[in-house]
Amino acid sequence: MEITNVSEYEAIAKQKLPKMAFDYYASGAEDQWTLQENRNAFSRILFRPRILIDVSKIDMTTTVLGFKISMPIMLAPTAFQKMAHPEGEYATARAASAAGTIMTLSSWATSSVEEVASTGPGIRFFQLYVYKDRHVVAQLVRRAERAGFKAIALTVDTPRLGRREADIKNRFTLPPFLTLKNFEGLDLGKMDKADDSGLASYVAGQIDRTLSWKDVKWLQTITTLPILVKGVLTAEDARIAVQSGAAGIIVSNHGARQLDYVPATISALEEVVKAAEGRVPVFLDGGVRRGTDVFKALALGASGIFIGRPVVFSLAAEGEAGVRKVLQILRDEFELTMALSGCRSLKEITRDHIVTDWDIPRTHPRALP
Ligand code: FNR
Repeated sequence: MEITNVSEYEAIAKQKLPKMAFDYYASGAEDQWTLQENRNAFSRILFRPRILIDVSKIDMTTTVLGFKISMPIMLAPTAFQKMAHPEGEYATARAASAAGTIMTLSSWATSSVEEVASTGPGIRFFQLYVYKDRHVVAQLVRRAERAGFKAIALTVDTPRLGRREADIKNRFTLPPFLTLKNFEGLDLGKMDKADDSGLASYVAGQIDRTLSWKDVKWLQTITTLPILVKGVLTAEDARIAVQSGAAGIIVSNHGARQLDYVPATISALEEVVKAAEGRVPVFLDGGVRRGTDVFKALALGASGIFIGRPVVFSLAAEGEAGVRKVLQILRDEFELTMALSGCRSLKEITRDHIVTDWDIPRTHPRALP
C-alpha cells in the first residue's frame, strides 16, 4: 500500500505488533482526553496565507543549539524501540541522520548510547530520567557525553508514571529478549513483571520523586552539555527554567501519557514562548502529524518540533525505511505549507499567518465556524 501521510502508519503498526507493544506505543493516560486534544487543538488553528510571493525557492534549514539541521522537525525520545523492530534505535538514528536532523535517544532505549553512536555520524541528544541513585545518573551523563551526544533533554513530567490503563490491563513488561540497555551493567536493565504495569512499578522503584529545580542546577555541575527542560506547560515554569540555566524548553505533555486533562501542547505553547522572552529557544512535541502542524507551531513561536509516535509506528511497519518516509513526508508537507502561505524561510513565518480560536473574540469573529 502506498503511504500518503504519516498517520497511516498507526494502523499498519497495529496489525504487525503484539497487542502489548502496540498498546504501549499508542496509549495516553486515563481518559485520553489530552491525547485527542493534542490533535484536535491543531484543527482549531487556521491559516491566513499571503499570496503572490515568489516561492520558487524555499529554505527550511535552521539551527538548534548551534547545530545546523535541514528542517525544524526532530525526533522525540521514545522508549523500547526494539519492541517495534529488531533494528530499533539504530534504524531511527540512521533515518534521522539521513534526513539531516536530530534524534533524541531515550534513557530507556533498548540500545545503549555507545551502540547508537556506533551507527555512524549524526547530531543526537540524550533524554535523561533522573534515578534515585545519582551515581547512576552521573555515569550515564558522562557516557552520553563521551559518545558524542550534544545536549541533555531532562524529562521533568515523570516523578511517577501516568496511569495508562491498557498497560495495566496488559500487565505491560519488556519482552524477555530486551533490556534497558543503558542500565544493563548497572543492574537496572531489567523490568520485572508486576500485577499492574511493569513500567509503572519500575518507575516507582527507581525514579527520583524528589527531583526539583535545584537538580537542574546540579545537573549543570556534572555536565557541560546544554540542558533542555522537557515537559513545561506554563509561563510560570518557563520563567523558572530560564532562571535555572536551561538552554531551551520543550513544551510537552509527554504525548498525553502523564497527567490527563492538561491542555494540548499547541494550546500551551504561546504562553511559554512569551514567558521565555526570547532568552532561550522553545520547542514543542505532541500530536504533530502534518506539515501544517509544524508551520502552526512555528507561527506560535516554536523554534522546532519533535515527533514521537510516528517514529515508532513507521519503525514497526517498515524499519529504517519507514522512519525515513515519515521524515520525508513531513518535510514535503511542511515545504508545501510554506509555499502556499507565502513563506520562503522560517523567519518569514509569523503569528499573522495563522488565526487561533483564542484570537476570535479579538479580531476575527468569523474566522472559525
Ligand atoms: C514517549 N515519550 C517519552 N519521553 C521521554 O522523555 N522519555 C521516554 O522514554 C519516552 N518514551 C515514550 C514512549 C512512547 C511510546 C511514546 C509515545 C512517548 C514522550 C515523547 O518524547 C514525546 O513527548 C511524545 O511522544 C510526543 O507526542 P507524539 O508525537 O507521540 O504525539
